[in-house]
Amino acid sequence: MSNILIVHAHPEPKSLTSALKDLAVDTLTAQGHTVRVSDLYQSGWKAVADRGDFIEQGRPDRLSYVAESRHAFASGTQSPDIDAEQRKLLWADAVLLSFPMWWFGMPAILKGWVDRVFAYGFAYGVGVHGGERWGDRYGEGVLSGRRAMLTVTIGGREPHYGARGVNGRLDDLLWPIQHGVLFYPGLEVVPPFAVYQSDRLADTEWPAVADAYKRRIAGLFNDRPIAFRTQNGGHYDGQQVLKPGLGASESGTRIHLVQPGDPEEVLDGPVPDRIALGAR
Ligand SMILES: Cc1cc2nc3c(=O)[nH]c(=O)nc-3n(C[C@H](O)[C@H](O)[C@H](O)COP(=O)(O)O)c2cc1C
Repeated sequence: MSNILIVHAHPEPKSLTSALKDLAVDTLTAQGHTVRVSDLYQSGWKAVADRGDFIEQGRPDRLSYVAESRHAFASGTQSPDIDAEQRKLLWADAVLLSFPMWWFGMPAILKGWVDRVFAYGFAYGVGVHGGERWGDRYGEGVLSGRRAMLTVTIGGREPHYGARGVNGRLDDLLWPIQHGVLFYPGLEVVPPFAVYQSDRLADTEWPAVADAYKRRIAGLFNDRPIAFRTQNGGHYDGQQVLKPGLGASESGTRIHLVQPGDPEEVLDGPVPDRIALGAR
C-alpha cells in the first residue's frame, strides 16, 4: 500500500473540484492507501514568495530568492510551512494536484505552493552541474520514483482544447506544470484527469464523472506515464538540445515525447482511457 499526497487548491468545499478531491480521498483510503491532503485555502497557505520564507538571510541587503533558497534548504532554515510540505512530498509515493483551470493555468495559491516548496537543492539545482552535465532533472532528481497526476476542472468545452481548438491543446497548456514543475524534479506524470464544461455539470452527470475518476485513480500506479524524454537518457546533445532526427514526426512541445524507435523507448503500462467528460 502506498502514501498519496493530494495538494488541493479550491476556495469552496462544495465545488466540483473539491468533490473530486473528496472522492479521491475516499477511493484511495478504501484501497488501503494512506492519504494526506494539503488543502491550501483551508490552511491559509502563504502564496507569495518573499524574504519571509527564510529564517536567516545570507544577504539581507538585497534579496536573491534563488541564493536564499539554496542556503535555507541546505542549512535547515526554511520557513516551517515550506519544510513541512517538502517532507510530505518525500513521504508520498504519488502526488495529485487538484485545481480548477484559472486563466489557462493553476490558481495563484497553487503556483505559490510550487514557487515556495520547490526549493533550490530540493527541486532544482540538484546533482552535478559541469561540462555537458546539467544536473539531475527531467526524469531524475529528489522526487524520482514517485508518480504525479493532475485533476483539473475546466470551464470550456473539450473541442476548444483539442488539436486545432481555439484555446490551444490541453497538453500544451499543462506542459509547464506537467513537464516544467513535475517531471523536472523527477516525478513520473500520468495523463491528467480533466472535466470539461465544469460550470455546467448537472447532478445527473456526476456519476459518470465519478466512475471515470475512480478508474483513473485505480490506474495511478499502473497506467502508462506521459513519455517525456529524460534529460540524461541520450536524447539531447551537450547544449541540452534534442539530437537531430529525434522528434521529426512531431512539432511543438511534443518533440520531447519518446517515440517508437527512439533511444530509451519505454512505453510500459496500459494507456488510460481518454474519456470526454463534462456537460453535454
Ligand atoms: C478566475 C477564473 C479563471 C478561469 N479561467 C478559465 C480558463 O482559462 N479556461 C477555462 O476553460 N475555464 C476557466 N475558468 C472556469 C473554471 O475552470 C471553472 O469555473 C471551474 O473549473 C469550475 O469548477 P469548480 O466548480 O470546482 O470551481 C475560470 C474561472 C475563474 C473563476
